[in-house]
Amino acid sequence: MTADLVVINAAQLVTCSSFGPKCGPEQMNELGVVKDGAVVIKDGIIESLGPTEEILAGRDVSGFQVIDAAGKAVLPGFVDSHTHFVFGGYREEEFAWRLAGQSYMEILQRGGGILSTVKATRKAGMQELIDSGARRLDSLLSFGVTTVEGKSGYGLDLENEVKQLEAMARLDRRHPVDVVPTFLGAHAVPPDYKGRTDKYVDFIIREVIPRVVEDGLAEFCDVFCEEGVFSIGQSRRLLQAARQMGLKLTLHADEIVALGGAELAAELEAVSADHLLQASAAGIDAMAEKKVVATLLPATAFSLKEPYARGRRMIDAGCAVALATDLNPGSCFCESVPLVMALACIYMGLTPEEAVCAMTINGAAALARADTVGSLDPGKYGDLVILEFPSYKFIPYHVGVNCVEKVIKKGHLVFDKTRLQVR
Ligand code: NIG
Ligand code: FE
Repeated sequence: MTADLVVINAAQLVTCSSFGPKCGPEQMNELGVVKDGAVVIKDGIIESLGPTEEILAGRDVSGFQVIDAAGKAVLPGFVDSHTHFVFGGYREEEFAWRLAGQSYMEILQRGGGILSTVKATRKAGMQELIDSGARRLDSLLSFGVTTVEGKSGYGLDLENEVKQLEAMARLDRRHPVDVVPTFLGAHAVPPDYKGRTDKYVDFIIREVIPRVVEDGLAEFCDVFCEEGVFSIGQSRRLLQAARQMGLKLTLHADEIVALGGAELAAELEAVSADHLLQASAAGIDAMAEKKVVATLLPATAFSLKEPYARGRRMIDAGCAVALATDLNPGSCFCESVPLVMALACIYMGLTPEEAVCAMTINGAAALARADTVGSLDPGKYGDLVILEFPSYKFIPYHVGVNCVEKVIKKGHLVFDKTRLQVR
């Protein structure tokens, strides 16, 4: 099958045009919408775009697959820049315990939570991780996600961290969704290191990261910087070592307690800092100054019944805000992009335009991939989402419901709702 494809007559082409993060309200609200638009994709790469009439007058598209998007909005493929989509087992009981009043951190501290997924992931074979991971990628793809970040962090030893990252590498090769792998060996302290967190950090730095880097298994290093998990000092030590070994930096920051994770992200000039529910005003300003992408995960705040991150404040301070699902078996078992965008608009004060920007170009910036994905610009991958509706405004407005009709990855039509049989 060729990857030469042209989309014509789109009610809106939402370009989100940029090769870097969009910062602050002015840039984030500027989506660059073209009416009655066309996009030409040649060999999987966007060749040109503009008004349909102009594009068709200047380009012979015989031999191209043609998709008529009359009455539909076309956007860049979504970039889900924070997930934990490779894991064994589920934690549906824990959800009920939380509803009955137990906290996420209490459950973790008594050996459940993340540690319960660690047990199940260590037990799972490679094929099982690949099969369940592929199903979750299928689901994300149906929501319009064409690039996804995935974290390890459910192995917490050399063999099983590598196993999770290996599973992601194989999924990246066989699945249309591009997978950006992140090493999160510092996700929790494993039982055999209980009470010896510094020793566990030493072990990761000396034995695990070198192997991960040598085998090319991760692009980023992440850490759960949180009270009772990894302190600011431990996170700094780990991230500095990871950077020296060639990994880019991101962190789970200020999710439950205002520990100073946002400040640390700015100090280290991390690519992204994520969650930020409790980020301080000084931390937010420092992130804006150092251009650290603020990745917000509103479906996690929703699932944990925690207060939402101050997205409006962050954008007004000049931050580049990204949105992501945080798909994982514990704090947020959710791949619904439209729910994430609706929560961001309703509870964090983002405009629909800002939410679109946060799910596309700023998600790409959070993964250091704004040069190849996240917008409709000539030279980027031909990754597109076609909606069932004529405007991007339907995404948050049709709360939590998937209004993606078609998804195109590198010029290939990889999802088409109109071909799914209802009965
Ligand atoms: O982003 N808080 C740390 N990590 C994940 C949850 C992982 C889990 O509960 O399994 C998060 O919320
Ligand atoms: Fe997470």
